Amino acid sequence: MCGIIAHAGDREALDPLVTGLEKLEYRGYDSAGIAVKNGHGLDVWKCSGQVSDLKRTINTVDSSATLGIGHTRWSTHGPPTDENAHPHTDHSDRVAAVHNGIIENYETLKEKLSEDGYEFTSDTDTEVIPNLIRYYLDHGNEPLAAFEHAVSDLDGSYAIATVIEGNDSIFAARQGSPLVLGLEENSYYLASDVPAFLSQTDTVLYLEDGDVLEVRSDGVEIIDEEGQLAQREVEQVDWQPGETEKAQFDHYMLKEIHSQPESLQKTLEGRFDREKDEIDLDLGLDLSGIDSVQLVACGTSYHAAMFGASLLNQCGVPARSIRASEYDVSAGTPSERTLFIAVTQSGETADTLTALSSAKEAGASTLAVTNVVQSTAAREADEPLYIRAGPEIGVAATKTFSSQAVTLTLLSQFLAEVTDDGSPLDTLPELVSDLSELSNAVEQVLQTSDAERLSREYLNERAYFFIGRGLGCSVAKEGALKFKEVTYEHAEGFASGELKHGPLALVTERTPVFTICVDGSRKTVTNAEEAKTRGAPIVAVSPPDHGIVDTADEHLYVPEMHPICTYLLANVQLQLLSYYSATELDRAIDKPRNLAKSVTVE
Ligand code: M6R
Repeated sequence: MCGIIAHAGDREALDPLVTGLEKLEYRGYDSAGIAVKNGHGLDVWKCSGQVSDLKRTINTVDSSATLGIGHTRWSTHGPPTDENAHPHTDHSDRVAAVHNGIIENYETLKEKLSEDGYEFTSDTDTEVIPNLIRYYLDHGNEPLAAFEHAVSDLDGSYAIATVIEGNDSIFAARQGSPLVLGLEENSYYLASDVPAFLSQTDTVLYLEDGDVLEVRSDGVEIIDEEGQLAQREVEQVDWQPGETEKAQFDHYMLKEIHSQPESLQKTLEGRFDREKDEIDLDLGLDLSGIDSVQLVACGTSYHAAMFGASLLNQCGVPARSIRASEYDVSAGTPSERTLFIAVTQSGETADTLTALSSAKEAGASTLAVTNVVQSTAAREADEPLYIRAGPEIGVAATKTFSSQAVTLTLLSQFLAEVTDDGSPLDTLPELVSDLSELSNAVEQVLQTSDAERLSREYLNERAYFFIGRGLGCSVAKEGALKFKEVTYEHAEGFASGELKHGPLALVTERTPVFTICVDGSRKTVTNAEEAKTRGAPIVAVSPPDHGIVDTADEHLYVPEMHPICTYLLANVQLQLLSYYSATELDRAIDKPRNLAKSVTVE
């Protein structure tokens, strides 16, 4: 968790550091801070709260510093106080460091340094880093050597950037936490993610685990884990700076919901042939020998994984969706004929990465269905399959769920085709045809949705239930997760048939039941009627002529398409419902309390 940014170059550092932190706030917003090297030493500003609070504390008239580091924090060790905010400095304030990750042996290191007279003022694991560097400087090492020695003492995961008084370099290292270098003429940016500097440059270089870097205004030196000078490939990212702006929208979440017509087009581009009803995912992996699939993920990505597993099973390919945090205790050992699919927007979720690494160890083939190019999951898996949704800044995942579900839909049909026991859906031609119309249909839902009015209708109820069956169950669970995440109201998603096995005890006239009904089965309608009998208001999320419509008190209509597409449209309606309910309640929509977008701790 946490976002780090650093700048070295000809231009002034303060502005790009602040802008970078604003772009990285989705990674954590408990505290923020900046350190720059000026003519007389290091200036450090930091405070609990958000980057907007930090900006008020930057009290310099001199903004000529060109070298600096910044941090936005999601707390792990120690509460979100001013003292625990990064950058942390050594006891003589001559080395400043920012860090994303966890230093597992920090207690031992702290004890040893304390015995040697080094003083600590925070509860964090990070504070050992500047003090270790100071220790090695005090013992006669040059800055780069001091940094390298310090890094080699650390156990755990980290992306680190440091500035040292009197020195014109940023020293940085990566081990298990993301770090990317942005290159501009005579300026370099180091960050946890590309959006931090995308307004300045789209030319990037991804660091490898074990890399140590020295970045100066006139060049970069990378030393790999073997201690050798290394070259890394320079790439252009195809994200546009505008994709990380809010534009005319009040929140990123609303912008990202509204950008689904374009993001879905990108997800689908070139991946199916309408004439031949063929799916082409351009995968280098031979998947013909696969006899079972594990789809492993967390949160929203887990709901997309449920969606994918359900489709694969419908096509005769045995598949299970498994919560990544439960993988080691409930998945069983995969075989060499198992395909392990990590579904992860960020590609950095620790629970998912841990599961991926055990599956690899067991010999399974591995695929990462991810949004972030060169993310850890993309690099660790045998092959990445990118969902191409573009950068998602709002903590609540919206457009990436749609793109994950569509990517997994294509993958399910592809696997059904190439594996022995599978066969694609009989309705594949209709599916392919409707997928090419999906963007237009999403646009229609966005233009005609009644979600804003409904959000006011059902404000301040006791709880909100979402029910559905099959693919509708994953949409119900996703609808509830989105709702609780941004409104802070109690919401639960259930398989509709499960309602009568317990949750019905919670149903009253104060618990609206959002019922996702897409296919012709009467079962979900019956389950909704059981809730209605107990007084619950029923909101149908369905095509206008579905059997649920007469039972329902209110409606969120979706166009009738191939059921897979209709379920995704139902999800768009629920995204809007969550967004407008949270707006009515005046919640911090893009940065919900206690959360962060990418959870890099287990
Ligand atoms: O980056 P990932 O897809 O691996 O993230 C997994 C979850 O943390 C994430 O989906 C989370 O549940 C979302 N914030 C929900 O909107």
